[in-house]
Amino acid sequence: MTEQNQFLTKEKGEIKVNGKTLELPIIIGTEGEKAVDIADLRAKTSYITLDHGYGNTGTCLSAITFIDGDKGILRYRGIPVEQLAEHSTFVETAYLLINGKLPNKKEADQFSKELTEHASLHQDVKHIFDGIPSTTHPMATLSAMVSILSGFDGASPEGQKKDDGEFNSKVAAKLLSKVRTIAAYSYKKSIGQPFIYPQRGLNYCANFLHMMFSLPGEEYPVDDEAVRILNLLLILHADHEQNCSTSTVRLVGSSRSNLFACIAAGICALWGPLHGGANQEVMEMLDEIHTAGGNVAKYIEAVKKPGSNLRLSGFGHRVYKTFDPRAKVIKQACDRYFKKRNVHDPLLDIAFQLEEVALKDDFFISRKLYPNVDFYSGILYKALGIPTNMFPVMFAIGRLPGWIAHWKEMKESKPQKIGRPRQIYIGPLKQDYVPIDRRT
Ligand code: CMC
Repeated sequence: MTEQNQFLTKEKGEIKVNGKTLELPIIIGTEGEKAVDIADLRAKTSYITLDHGYGNTGTCLSAITFIDGDKGILRYRGIPVEQLAEHSTFVETAYLLINGKLPNKKEADQFSKELTEHASLHQDVKHIFDGIPSTTHPMATLSAMVSILSGFDGASPEGQKKDDGEFNSKVAAKLLSKVRTIAAYSYKKSIGQPFIYPQRGLNYCANFLHMMFSLPGEEYPVDDEAVRILNLLLILHADHEQNCSTSTVRLVGSSRSNLFACIAAGICALWGPLHGGANQEVMEMLDEIHTAGGNVAKYIEAVKKPGSNLRLSGFGHRVYKTFDPRAKVIKQACDRYFKKRNVHDPLLDIAFQLEEVALKDDFFISRKLYPNVDFYSGILYKALGIPTNMFPVMFAIGRLPGWIAHWKEMKESKPQKIGRPRQIYIGPLKQDYVPIDRRT
């Protein structure tokens, strides 16, 4: 009995191919999302489905995150992300995603204790940093170091070459804690400053800011507002169901690779400018427009030009066909933060103008393109002093609980099948090998 049977309905779908009709089971999720199960399609008709970019393909049942892209709804384990952004911390949200429920006091204390215990890196990991050129993008460093972590302390059973089917909650804490330290060290490495060790008394986000900005003998004064903003940003990035990087984590995990290897792969998938690298792209775009005199309309025209490859970074989403709820929260937080501090960032003005112009333009309206999570996040990261090339790394720290939660869910689900899509071959028909002296 698979968990899917619980969601089978009496409804049936039908597919007719080449004169043959196949009856297909219909599955309906707890929020009313519907699926036609085509598992038998190829065996019974010899046809497969073709779905570029997986726009209509579900690969799993999941109880972690719900998105309604038409209504702009995002919930983690049923809780609206806006409520978590307002009341929760990143650590609590991570616990929620991974364990399926909010922690009670005892569980929260235990989780924090584990995060504190694992904050430091093995001395040998630090030596590996020495060999990485300072010009390396911090996402490359992060991915490489996470993969290497599989060989370090307490490597078994969590760092094993193949996994043993057991989810170890201590490994989740270890990864969450160490990834933060690696991220801060990557930054220090890139600017040629000595590493700053994690400090026991500091919470997760405060410790990150401390490791990023303190200097030997010069403590960085971590302020509560910066910690609050960082919590908010990380919470908003914590999960987004079957996005490109999470699907990568699941796909790699489906071959029973260990968690470290899967997360390292997820980081690489996230790096791209259409996914988690978009926040860096947005900032570079805003900077470019500002440096060129701030002509927003000209940039929009260049994006709209027929045949142009230029995109308005931070706009559009595969799932949201209205405002991304995360973008709304970040925009408000930006507004509040800048007013409270009485500071002004001209790039925020450019972002406001771009949004205003785009949302009135038929090109964007007709394609349902709205600001996504990455449109305003970079401006807040910048306000916290985080450099642009670290933005995707911030996204990775935020997304880590989601990746871990999906990896755990995949391991606990039945049946567990290796991910292996099909294709339609369009290459040459059979031909014989021709020796090189007879080739034209
Ligand atoms: N600027 C200009 N045109 C766009 C944009 C954009 N940002 N996004 C989509 N389009 C156009 C696209 O050219 C296409 O037009 P046409 O139908 O004339 O060919 C149409 O809208 C549909 O685009 P698509 O690429 O088929 O849509 P998709 O669902 O495959 O792509 C996306 C989603 C996020 C990759 C895309 O909207 C995009 O490239 N946005 C910019 C990059 C970005 O901000 N990425 C971060 C996404 S949110 C964080 C995350 O979870 O990764």
